Amino acid sequence: MRALVLNGPNLGRLGLREPEVYGSTTHADLVALCEATGDELGMSVTVRQTDDEGRMIGWLHEAADEKLPIVLNAAAWTHYSIAIRDACAQLTAPWVEVHISNVHQREEFRSHSYLSALASGVIVGLGVAGYPLALRWLSQHGGS
Ligand code: DQA
Repeated sequence: MRALVLNGPNLGRLGLREPEVYGSTTHADLVALCEATGDELGMSVTVRQTDDEGRMIGWLHEAADEKLPIVLNAAAWTHYSIAIRDACAQLTAPWVEVHISNVHQREEFRSHSYLSALASGVIVGLGVAGYPLALRWLSQHGGS
């Protein structure tokens, strides 16, 4: 099975960015963690990050066309982007929304997600450990 891990804006700055909120793991560490999890699960995992909404929408179209299971941390887009939501609505394989921080313990605007109602499931607040958990679930429920 193939799966994509798609990370949105500012997640390329993990490790540097508000470490008290997001921890000290860098994005490169996160890529290594996801790839190692894929190896363990016999799954081919590709991790991508972008600060460009159009690029993310293109990746979501690719996942829709290829019926790929995904792990999506849409970061700030989660809270306001109807365009990202509309792209997610085209996904047919299972997919998991992940947030590193517990968005429900933070500012009120982070409690609302345009994506959660469309996701197969949501993992929040478990740090980067949410990603391998999501991949493990997809390996069992992600389809072909
Ligand atoms: C985040 C939470 C979002 O509110 C925030 O905008 C992010 C990261 C998380 O992983 O905790 O950039 O998605």
